[in-house]
Formats: sequence, structure tokens, C-alpha cells
Amino acid sequence: MEVMDVDIAEAGPSTSAVVTNLTEESTGSQTTTVKSDLNTPWIEKYRPKTFSDIVGNEETVLRLEKFSSCGNVPNIIIAGPPGVGKTTTILALARILLGSAFKEAVLELNASSDRGIETVRNKIKMFAQQKVTLPPGRHKIIILDEADSMTDGAQQALRRTMELWSNTTRFALACNNSDKIIEAIQSRCAMLRYGKLSDQEIMTQLLKVCKIEGVSYSADGLEAVVFTSQGDMRQALNNLQSTWNGFKHVDSTNVFKVCDEPHPLLIKEMLLECVDQNISKAYKIMAHLWKLGYAPEDIIVNIFRVAKHLEIKESLKLKFIMEIGQVHIRIVGGLNSLLQLSALLAKLCTLSATTEK
Ligand SMILES: Nc1ncnc2c1ncn2[C@@H]1O[C@H](COP(=O)(O)OP(=O)(O)O)[C@@H](O)[C@H]1O
Ligand SMILES: [Mg+2]
Repeated sequence: MEVMDVDIAEAGPSTSAVVTNLTEESTGSQTTTVKSDLNTPWIEKYRPKTFSDIVGNEETVLRLEKFSSCGNVPNIIIAGPPGVGKTTTILALARILLGSAFKEAVLELNASSDRGIETVRNKIKMFAQQKVTLPPGRHKIIILDEADSMTDGAQQALRRTMELWSNTTRFALACNNSDKIIEAIQSRCAMLRYGKLSDQEIMTQLLKVCKIEGVSYSADGLEAVVFTSQGDMRQALNNLQSTWNGFKHVDSTNVFKVCDEPHPLLIKEMLLECVDQNISKAYKIMAHLWKLGYAPEDIIVNIFRVAKHLEIKESLKLKFIMEIGQVHIRIVGGLNSLLQLSALLAKLCTLSATTEK
């Protein structure tokens, strides 16, 4: 079950493609094999190959760069939200450390591979025992991507293995949630944390890609892509590419059509109606969104995102956000009716009436 969850939520169908790509690529030299193939997903085409191309999280990347330059890298765990460059970083690290030996000296196991106790025992053991000629002072690397989807049992099997082969092998783990990695493994690794990328960082990367690909865009279009991506570079690039492929022009209307999210301007209007205590107008917008068929969870998430940036008095905004959070909990708990969302509007109107402006 757990394995499936992660596959869908994060890696999607591209996971296995990544693995094959890599093995092919690593046989060659450093030259990037960028094909101007329409079908290449941009997330792969623009996957950074070196540390300097990785956007954001500068301090952590710098730390890794130091590790890699002295050669003696500890076991590491990179934890952070999806699409911020965890897998990319580990692959870049392995490439820098191992160079042309990448193919023989790296074992990559991700959530789509079988990672039960047996695999951990056998595959990792076999790999760790293999003799590979490496540059002096370097180690073989075992990459466990999406490690938080490994069962506790498999992780337990790993801890001993980690120590047993420590003079020939290093482990690099990536996960979304470091809580799901057992303590015993955490204490054997250096923990590096990645945060979400800032809007500015994503925007810069989008502009770069737009320039290379010759994408026709408007400023509000790119802002919409940044808004929908919420600090996730993978999502940003995917949304940009889908909009470009689908409409041949990236403006906000097209972006929200592709991403199938309620338009934030509409939501902003709705919230401002609540500030003016105009419940019927606010409800009209909500009913419209409901009729369009958006999922209640998508609606509430977007209400929150918009509310965060609403230009109203801070004290009122805090009350709004608290109320939105309460309704979010209810929706996630299963009370996901239009009634709940309408009640939220009524509550916001009341809050606005009782808070001095
Ligand atoms: N920090 C980053 N800088 C540049 N591109 C990034 C960054 N993070 C993610 N990307 C883009 O998103 C894609 C997926 O990133 P990945 O490293 O697989 O994310 P995850 O953190 O989920 O493992 C990369 O191929 C790259 O195109
Ligand atoms: Mg990843």
C-alpha cells in the first residue's frame, strides 16, 4: 500500500524512465544528450547535472559540494517536499564522485523497485560485495530513493548492512518525510533538509526554460504557473509544458484550465465580498465553482492560498485563515458538502463584521 501511495503522489510514471535514462547517459561522457524531441518531458530535459545548476537550498547544496570535493562522503539522507531536487542532487553527487564508474558503482533502488526485506538483504549485499575499481578514496553508492516508503522491517534489515559494508559502500537516501525513517538509520546518516523553492527561484528557472524553448507567455501566465506549483519545481515545469503544448500560449486562463484549479482571481473576489459582508455575492461565486465541478478540497486549498496574500487587515486575515483551516479539517474528514463551504462564507462575513477595520 505504502509503496503505491508514493508512486502516485510523487514519482508518477516517469520513475522507471529516469532510471533507464541514467544508465544510458552515464555510459557516455559529460556531454548532455538534449534532444529537441517534443516528447521529452522538460523535467528530464532540464534536470540539473551539476550542483551549480541546482536552484535554491544553497546552504545544503554547498555542504554537499564540500563533502564531494573532499571525497569522503558520509551516509546521507535528504529530506524535503516533492520536486525540490532531492533525487537530482543525489544523482549529481554520485556522478561527481564516481565519474565514469557511475554505471558499475551505483545501485539505485526506488519505490518502484521491490524493496522488501529479502531485496535489501540480497541485492544490497551482493552489490556491496562486488569488486569495482574506483578512483582512490571513493566508495560505491547505494541510492534508496523515496526511502520513506520502505517498510520498517526492510529498514531494520538495512541498518546492519549499512555498518557491515561501511568501508566500501555509502548510502544516499531521499525521502519526503524523515519521520518515516527509523531512528537507527537516521543516527547513521548525515541529515540534510531541503525546503520548498521560493516563488522567485521557480520564476527564474521558468524564464530560462521559456527562453530556450521559445515559449510564448504573458507575465500573468508565468505567475499562474508559479502559483499552482507551490514551491515544487517538477510541478512548475510540468504545468508550463502542458499549457504550452495544449494552447501554444501561456497566460493565466490557459494555465488554470490545464491545471484544473479554480481561478485565484475568482476566489479573491469571493473573499473580498466576504470582507464587505456581502454573503449573496460571495455565495454566487462559490456556487459557480461548485457547479464547475471542482473538488471541495481543491477549493478550500485555493481559498487558503489566496487568503494568505489577501490585502486586508492582519488581524482579520488571521481570523480568516483560522476559520479556513477549521473547514479544511472538516472537509478532509469527509464533510465535504457545499453546505460546509457556504457556512465558511457566512462565518467569514461575521468575522469581518465583528473585527474593526
Ligand atoms: N532545485 C532545482 N533546480 C532545478 N531544477 C529542479 C530543482 N528541483 C527540481 N527540479 C526539476 O524537477 C525535476 C524533478 O526533481 P527531483 O530531483 O526528481 O525532485 P525530488 O525532490 O522530488 O526528488 C528535475 O528533473 C528538475 O527538472
Ligand atoms: Mg525524487
